[in-house]
Amino acid sequence: MQFPAWRVNSSRRRFQRRARPGLRGVCLLLCVAALWPRKPASFFAPSCANEGNGSSNATEETGPVQGPKSHEALPDEVEPFRYALELTLDPERSSAFSGKVSISLNVTRETSSIIFNARDLTLGSIKLLTTDPGRAATLHPLEVLKDAKFQRVTLHFKDVLQPGLAVLRIHYTGEMGKDMAGLYSSRYKGPDGWKTMALTQFEAVDARRMLPCWDEPSRKAVFALGVVIPSALTAVSNMPAASETTLERQRRRIVFLDTPRMSSYLLALAVGRFDTIQAQTVNGTLIRVLTMPGQAAQGQFALSVAARALSYYEDYFGVPFPLPKLDMLAAPDFAAGAMENWGLVIYREVDLLCNETTVGVARKVRIATVVTHELSHMWFGNLVTMEWWDQLWLNEGFANWMQTQAVDVLFPEWHIWEQYVVEEQSRALQLDALRSSHPVEVPIRHAKEVDEVFDAISYCKGGSVVRMVNGVLGKELFREGLGLYMRRFAYRNTDSSDLWSCWEEVSGMPLQDMMSSWTQQQGFPVLIVNRSAPKGGGLALQQRWFLADGSEEPEDAKKLWHIPLLPGPDSQRKQMVMDTPEMLWEPPGKAEGAWLKFNFGQVAPYRVLYDSSLLRPLATALRAGHVNPLDRIGLLLDAMAFAKQGRLPMTELLRLVSAYKGEKSAHVWQALSDVLSSLHRMAAFVGDTTLHEAVGNGMLRDALQEVGLAISASETDLTRHKRACILSLMAMYLPHDKGLAEEATSRFQRWLDAPDRQDVLPDDLKTSMFKIVLANAETDAPYHALRRVARRPDIPQAVRLSIYTALGSATRRDLRLKTLDMALGGRNGVRLQDIMYPVQGVSSDPDGARLAWRWFIQRRRSIIARLKGASVRLLGLVIQLAAGSVPDKGHANAVEAFFQQHPVQGLERSIAQVVESIRTDAKFVVRLEDAMQDEEMKDLLLSFEL
Ligand SMILES: *[C@@H]1O[C@H](CO)[C@@H](O)[C@H](O)[C@H]1NC(C)=O
Ligand SMILES: *[C@@H]1O[C@H](CO)[C@@H](O)[C@H](O)[C@H]1NC(C)=O
Ligand SMILES: *[C@@H]1O[C@H](CO)[C@@H](O)[C@H](O)[C@H]1NC(C)=O
Ligand SMILES: *[C@@H]1O[C@H](CO)[C@@H](O)[C@H](O)[C@H]1NC(C)=O
Ligand SMILES: *[C@@H]1O[C@H](CO)[C@@H](O)[C@H](O)[C@H]1NC(C)=O
Ligand SMILES: [Zn+2]
Repeated sequence: MQFPAWRVNSSRRRFQRRARPGLRGVCLLLCVAALWPRKPASFFAPSCANEGNGSSNATEETGPVQGPKSHEALPDEVEPFRYALELTLDPERSSAFSGKVSISLNVTRETSSIIFNARDLTLGSIKLLTTDPGRAATLHPLEVLKDAKFQRVTLHFKDVLQPGLAVLRIHYTGEMGKDMAGLYSSRYKGPDGWKTMALTQFEAVDARRMLPCWDEPSRKAVFALGVVIPSALTAVSNMPAASETTLERQRRRIVFLDTPRMSSYLLALAVGRFDTIQAQTVNGTLIRVLTMPGQAAQGQFALSVAARALSYYEDYFGVPFPLPKLDMLAAPDFAAGAMENWGLVIYREVDLLCNETTVGVARKVRIATVVTHELSHMWFGNLVTMEWWDQLWLNEGFANWMQTQAVDVLFPEWHIWEQYVVEEQSRALQLDALRSSHPVEVPIRHAKEVDEVFDAISYCKGGSVVRMVNGVLGKELFREGLGLYMRRFAYRNTDSSDLWSCWEEVSGMPLQDMMSSWTQQQGFPVLIVNRSAPKGGGLALQQRWFLADGSEEPEDAKKLWHIPLLPGPDSQRKQMVMDTPEMLWEPPGKAEGAWLKFNFGQVAPYRVLYDSSLLRPLATALRAGHVNPLDRIGLLLDAMAFAKQGRLPMTELLRLVSAYKGEKSAHVWQALSDVLSSLHRMAAFVGDTTLHEAVGNGMLRDALQEVGLAISASETDLTRHKRACILSLMAMYLPHDKGLAEEATSRFQRWLDAPDRQDVLPDDLKTSMFKIVLANAETDAPYHALRRVARRPDIPQAVRLSIYTALGSATRRDLRLKTLDMALGGRNGVRLQDIMYPVQGVSSDPDGARLAWRWFIQRRRSIIARLKGASVRLLGLVIQLAAGSVPDKGHANAVEAFFQQHPVQGLERSIAQVVESIRTDAKFVVRLEDAMQDEEMKDLLLSFEL
């Protein structure tokens, strides 16, 4: 899956930082930045594992677990290998559906019971037909036991079933919900008014809401799906239709071809009215984009990306796409960003559809990235699947890397790896610097815990670890190992060590130990580099667990990573790995003034702290423009993290920031935006405005002047992106700048008259311009005008999200409360999938952050009631934004106490991460406050503007 990108432009960035642990966003919800929509890492922070609080007792909680596995697993005396399912539904008239399923089973050992998953289904007739020659019989269960907690059904039979083949036939009925899980209904406005479509979202454990099944990733089987629907509607599923028959009462039956052997969470169905565009890959695979009526043309960009990406993957993996077609469908309501159902990928509308000529650059990159992410899953995840959910990172970490690799090949002009370091790698490092983080390979005892592991650790740290392997092995061996993995494990299941062995086999390098230090161990190291006194040349290297708040406990020093040192810019000895707590290292060149950087190219997920004798030449090289953008980003983000720890004085941080005046690279601006947003937020809580003025006047104003507000036809995407990034910082630092406020207000008025006019208010700049307008508004007219536009069904969803995000900038408290209440839904509210946007907008300054928390306390019941049944991750996002935005010790205690009193099941770990992040931020605010009193700091800020 892909997180919903719920942040679409640079201004959201600040958000992220604020709500800390660096919030950014899954396949479900998935990750903005200055741009790109991203997701708050911690939003999805899981509280899945049992480690740490020792509260759970496996034996006690496992329920009917049998067999040797450490997690809940259905017994294996019965192996399903084919499901023939016929569903009857009419989503425009009724939410009810009925099903008849015949499950072909292989009874492998004697047993008198059969256990499978089902949730919220009403089971009718149940029969077991044994089909072995000479033993044909029809058996009826003596007893049918339903276990709602474990979502299982047990059939007890009078006689012992003998090994052999059998067919289990079940008739049942169910109801489609509106909670974006299982088989659900989704409303949309078409040319003939409001309609309802039926959609599915099964990962991780909701296939059982559509059919009785063995709902575990390793129980792969063939699915033969058929539907009976009104003739006016269309149905699509993983496979193309094999036959269509007209039935009486204006209905028809569509039977789809058998799927390949696959996991139940990959099954998919959509029933409704769709418009379609299509293309073919070089090798003839049909690719279609399905949309609500009238919107198909908006799928053109995604369609072309998909056609190229599919061919790239066939070539890269050396394995052809195994299905006859690939559909990509835009869903009006979708909890995640997108879901990789094999052959039928379903997306949030905003992550698939756009007008290619007008879309903001961040959004365009996001769409390309979501498409390449999902398509990589067609191999990594669908063809070869993790054995159990504790290996989820194999799916998501890999896709997180692969999406970037593919976009880099398809759109080299975007320099996407730089964005990767700013967005994905830094999210990983932020979340994983908390004591309440978790290892990449995280124990999942019960499938219901898995929802929370769709977080920045599985995605971003997983992806960063894959990138590290690529850096250490080199491109060719890396790819060769992957090809081997695909061929060896096709249609099967694996765990991490299967992947390491394939890479070991092709490279001869021992990887298991190195990799397990990164995936089985929580956290990551800081490499501390000192010129070893007294005897000249050598460097003393040390590694330590890096913690966001700089705390140290006696046990911490025991952790050890295998760190690829990757010294640069002279890139010999690339494969040198440090696996001891300390070592001495002799740098190759000793030229006077030479500079040296470890983790060159930011290839691995760790930070580096240099002593001043090494930092000085680095800073000189930086000012002279000799350091590449990847390393400029790395140095800056590391410095910010050390300043938060208290290891780097605030003055040093600001001196470094000033070295980026005149920065040209859009992605480095994005990194600056992260750092400056964070500083801005903290300074706002301190009540200091000198920092705002110094940075705004000394750095941002000139930068905006240089890039200008007008888009030129000849400029690159990255220039547009840089403009959006700088403008969002201006909207934060100098929202009342007179010239800018007038410009924004006049453009806004012209846009209201003609919302299609891109030249007046390009999509890239909308959120920032709306914010500036609202911050300067003397009446509530602009606020209400924006809300009216957001309600128009014909405006693009991306514009609607810009509005939701900006509304919180209205300064009046009553307007802010109205904005927050939009999260509750209702006639003037937002769709459930968009619930986090209004909260994000309001909680971005001290007053709004406090207001959002009070609002959450008051409205908790309504919020939870609205999200009940939907992904717990969405609730996690709302909590992170509403509870996590006030960097104050007392607030941390209040949040902790509140959730002790009102625990949210499944979000224990996320809430611990929110609390820990608030405490870390609170310490930083105190440090900043002290620093602002400092004479050196005052001088520095004065000199900023020179
Ligand atoms: C866990 O279950 C075992 C076996 O039933 C029992 O002996 C033990 O006391 C339980 N532990 C806790 C913490 O409940
Ligand atoms: C059924 O299971 C047995 C034992 O695992 C195996 O030998 C046999 O090939 C299986 N048959 C089918 C049709 O899957
Ligand atoms: C995209 O926007 C432009 C400018 O507003 C418009 O002319 C064009 O028709 C739009 N294209 C699509 C596919 O909607
Ligand atoms: C197309 O198919 C041929 C033959 O199977 C294969 O060699 C080639 O790599 C494929 N091309 C692409 C772009 O996948
Ligand atoms: C390295 O330098 C840091 C300060 O920069 C100091 O705290 C640390 O003790 C030094 N370590 C060694 C091994 O010299
Ligand atoms: Zn994914």
